[in-house]
Amino acid sequence: MARMAGRTGLAGTGGDACRCARFGLGARGGRWGSALHCFCAMHQSVMALRGWGGLGVWVARSSGEAARTYTSAPMMNRLPMSVTASPASFADDAPGPAPGLVLGIESSCDETGVALVHASGQGVPRLEAHALHSQIEMHQAYGGVVPELASRDHIRRVLPLATQVLAAAGRSLAEVDVVAYTRGPGLAGALLVGSGVACALGAALGRPVLGVHHLEGHLLSPFLSADPPEFPFVALLVSGGHTQLMRVDAVGDYQILGETIDDAAGEAFDKSAKLMGLGYPGGPALSRLAEAGDPAAFKLPRPLLHSGDLDFSFAGLKTAVLTQARKLGDALESRKPDLAASTQAAIVEVLLKKSMAALRQTGLRRLVVAGGVGANRELRQRLNAACQTARVRVHYPELHLCTDNGAMIAMAAAMRLQSGRAQAGRDYSFDVRPRWPLDAIDA
Ligand code: KG4
Ligand code: ZN
Repeated sequence: MARMAGRTGLAGTGGDACRCARFGLGARGGRWGSALHCFCAMHQSVMALRGWGGLGVWVARSSGEAARTYTSAPMMNRLPMSVTASPASFADDAPGPAPGLVLGIESSCDETGVALVHASGQGVPRLEAHALHSQIEMHQAYGGVVPELASRDHIRRVLPLATQVLAAAGRSLAEVDVVAYTRGPGLAGALLVGSGVACALGAALGRPVLGVHHLEGHLLSPFLSADPPEFPFVALLVSGGHTQLMRVDAVGDYQILGETIDDAAGEAFDKSAKLMGLGYPGGPALSRLAEAGDPAAFKLPRPLLHSGDLDFSFAGLKTAVLTQARKLGDALESRKPDLAASTQAAIVEVLLKKSMAALRQTGLRRLVVAGGVGANRELRQRLNAACQTARVRVHYPELHLCTDNGAMIAMAAAMRLQSGRAQAGRDYSFDVRPRWPLDAIDA
């Protein structure tokens, strides 16, 4: 027995066989090109949950039915931890300014992350434990992320990681007050895994859930460091798919000052690395190679450096790197460190100059750098030097929290709840937002 979700929902069955062919994914507005694919990933996550907690949940709100939590007794006997299923209600029940213990789940791309953050009062929430599984090794053979493999691996990893995090924090599942998950942007199938698991857990525990914007997670990740920033600040958000400069006045109060008109800085690193045969992920590989190279060896373009605004463009750089690599021909092999160093210098210079211009333009004296490219050593060194000269404080996430992780999702949820910008709810139907501009976060 099963029902189709009125909105994108989580479907569960009373039996053990996978019956996804019978159900399909209830999609809002029919936006899913690969509904069956997504659904399969989804359904397996439900099966995984059933293996763990004997739980399945589905939601059929639009037909007026209440959400239901299903438990199967034989499965319950094999629980590694105690899960008490309770009927879900739809009354929005915000935990208030002190959300308590927030479990965060990240599954937007090629990293599965789970974390526990505790927020009491209005102080900066505290990270209790986090665990991460990177899929890099799995995707390496293909030279990039394979979405279907990513979804399947998230399914395999998310519950063991949750168990690990709870054990590390000395907490039980029953102590979790809010379950947070990455709602977007990211790969649809991958997002569905984390969202489905989070909503099923929330329903099973009778706890509210909150979908989080992945980029807001990055943006607030420096609050996880020992020296958290204070508002307001200029943020340089540099991830694999985004390059943005923002004015940040408070949680949820984000004004975009400039952004890339084509490739992101992370893409420039990744694509240039690929052209040089450095594989995936390109950013760290290229920056390692650059350490042995001369950054002035090749004259590469600094796109939009003097445009007078705070926008970026990196697509031309990749073409220039390709042209240079072709010109070098057989000599490329021995000149790769020089080409890598020159490429990195071009990207870093543009990011540096535009960040300093944003600080001048806003008059703010605090810079926050977030996202995967924020791990780049050359970028950090150059920014540190320039900010010292300009008497600007610069904050980064801890190195291991620059790239995707669950801690930033739990943190962003906790801070949103504390600030009253968001309320966690007990509506366990969900939709994911593979494309979700940060300035439409409340839409
Ligand atoms: O934030 P992130 O983990 O994922 C997205 O949300 O996109 O960023 C991944 C990006 C990739 O493009 C990766 O090559 C880049 O961050 N990256 C780096 C470094 N570490 C990761 N780029 C340059 N230098 C690094 N050390
Ligand atoms: Zn990211």
